[in-house]
Amino acid sequence: MNNIRQVYLNGAFLPPAQAQVSAFDRGFVFGDGVYEVIPVFGGRLFRLPQHLARLGNSLREIRMTNPLPAAEWQRVFERLVEIQGGGELSIYLQVTRGVAPRDHAFPPNLAPTVFAYAAPLKYPPAEEVERGIAAITAPDIRWLRCDIKAIALLPNAMLRSQALDQGAAEAILLRDGFMTEGAASNIFVVRGGRLLTPPKGPLILPGVTRDLVLELARAHGVPCAEEAVSEAVLRAADEVWMTSSTKEILPITRLDGKPVGDGRPGPLHARLLALYKDYKRDFCAGKVD
Ligand code: PDD
Repeated sequence: MNNIRQVYLNGAFLPPAQAQVSAFDRGFVFGDGVYEVIPVFGGRLFRLPQHLARLGNSLREIRMTNPLPAAEWQRVFERLVEIQGGGELSIYLQVTRGVAPRDHAFPPNLAPTVFAYAAPLKYPPAEEVERGIAAITAPDIRWLRCDIKAIALLPNAMLRSQALDQGAAEAILLRDGFMTEGAASNIFVVRGGRLLTPPKGPLILPGVTRDLVLELARAHGVPCAEEAVSEAVLRAADEVWMTSSTKEILPITRLDGKPVGDGRPGPLHARLLALYKDYKRDFCAGKVD
């Protein structure tokens, strides 16, 4: 936490050590809350409306009112960016239901706990982008509402740790013979020159980076589809990538100890990464929103 100068908690900007939350907060006791991670490039909030829309959806699905209007969220984030000195950051924000005596059912009319900070963005090392990373497959042990960006991430933490134990960086999750997503990422595969990723629904998080990759692919004539990806298609893929706000578009070149395709990042990855970087450059220059 050394590199975080101030955090936002319930209306105040404070040094991290002074930001305190009740031990009876339902976020602490039940994991009753939702979160977002928003990248900041060149001091600007990347895809803010999309992240706020997803936050609104997560809150609605757990029957909470959004504590702040969009303009107020933006003001909080911009202040955090300014405090942190701009540049390349990631905003973490979480909203929990608030403090109440322990009882499972949602208590009405609680004051939510609203917490946010900006931290330096840690990019994957250049060699991971150039050579790709290793992933394992694992059964998707999570719940059936993965479209909600819930703070309760114990299964995801277990799955990521399982990957690390096996010398890999990510776990690709399988449910009923089909791929869902990564422990903390969305997954794309390339098969016969086509880019495929599973359709949105309750079993995956609708990733903001995922949507941007599809948007860029469509705009530049790269064949792509949102389509169920079976385990067999995953294992036979020419390329596999993971996407997230903090890892961007990372090639997966080993799966369960075996090479993906020829074991090197593929041509479609190079194409989409270049399009993504161009888009980011234009964004930093204020040419696109
Ligand atoms: N996680 N799926 C899961 C389960 C995730 O946790 C994430 C991102 C994604 C990618 O979503 P996006 O492109 O909007 O970042 C997909 C964030 C980065 C995290 O938990 O730190």
